[in-house]
Amino acid sequence: MADQISIIAPDDWHVHLRDGEMLSQVVAHTARRFRRAIVMPNLRPPVTTVASARAYRDRIQAACSADLEFKPLMTAYLTDTIAPAELEKGFREGVFAAAKLYPANATTNSAAGVMDLLQLDPVLETMARIGMPLLIHGEVTDAEIDIFDREAVFIERHLVPLRERHPELKVVFEHITTEQAVQYVSSADRHLAATITPHHLHINRNAMFAGGLRSDFYCLPVAKRECHRKALRRAATSGDRHFFLGTDTAPHERASKESSCGCAGIFNAPFALESYAQVFDEEGALAHLEAFASLNGPAFYNLPANTRRITMQRRDHLVPELVNGLVPFHAGEILSWAVADAPDQVQL
Ligand code: DOR
Ligand code: ZN
Repeated sequence: MADQISIIAPDDWHVHLRDGEMLSQVVAHTARRFRRAIVMPNLRPPVTTVASARAYRDRIQAACSADLEFKPLMTAYLTDTIAPAELEKGFREGVFAAAKLYPANATTNSAAGVMDLLQLDPVLETMARIGMPLLIHGEVTDAEIDIFDREAVFIERHLVPLRERHPELKVVFEHITTEQAVQYVSSADRHLAATITPHHLHINRNAMFAGGLRSDFYCLPVAKRECHRKALRRAATSGDRHFFLGTDTAPHERASKESSCGCAGIFNAPFALESYAQVFDEEGALAHLEAFASLNGPAFYNLPANTRRITMQRRDHLVPELVNGLVPFHAGEILSWAVADAPDQVQL
């Protein structure tokens, strides 16, 4: 059993870095582990223009120390009225790496999202033509549909028809949570891929109700039954190029989580890589960690893999109850993999 592995430095293909004070609290946790990250645009107001993405990128870079050499990759927030020309301009200027589709009201700060997917066709045609990836929060918002079924129903109702209308469009089905999504993505061509979070690999829906109402385990899409978690673990650890790392780290102030109407989101950035390594180890698949964390994502986005490497070691360490005043994923648990030569907790 290997006690040490060396892999090409990883990237995180789905993060929420927030803005202002929260940005300065969380960005180092991502930047010290991941060379690049796809940054979600669901700020208030959302990032819908090239100018606002450029300004946000500057704020991110200013908030993290230059010696980390972290590269934020920005995304555009799709609305019913966004102009295809704005997306094309941002993509060609190297500001937008991708565009994010939130069905209106599907999740945090998505009220300005897309009401009618069919209306988006001119935007998607442009994106397909220029090779700009579409990142999808894949859940229907129909209140008639049970929350645990919203991802599976989205595939049938929206994703299959969308990909039939735009077969050349590159699509990332973000933070998948079901065996239906695993099945659909793994049998698709190279234009479709999916990210998988550490929390959906570790917890099933029971975690939200273990001994009381556990808001720290509430995120969207919500965790599903155990059979789905197992399917996600098989997919992530398989080495299949359709699947890659995207933490969906989504910090919220404690008061917003610990409320009678708490926010969705799990702050996993401080120990995300360690969390994934543990899953790969448990599945006997450490040999595939590099593909998932460091190779499959860049290949999909047509970017080179990183040149630096990192070493991880089998070493027990306790995850603190709080990190920068926020509850991190795995709080109070012992994780068995650590990054060599790095403190187990970032100093800010
Ligand atoms: O749990 C989530 N939190 N899911 C999302 O889709 C959004 C995110 C957030 O921004 O808090
Ligand atoms: Zn997200």
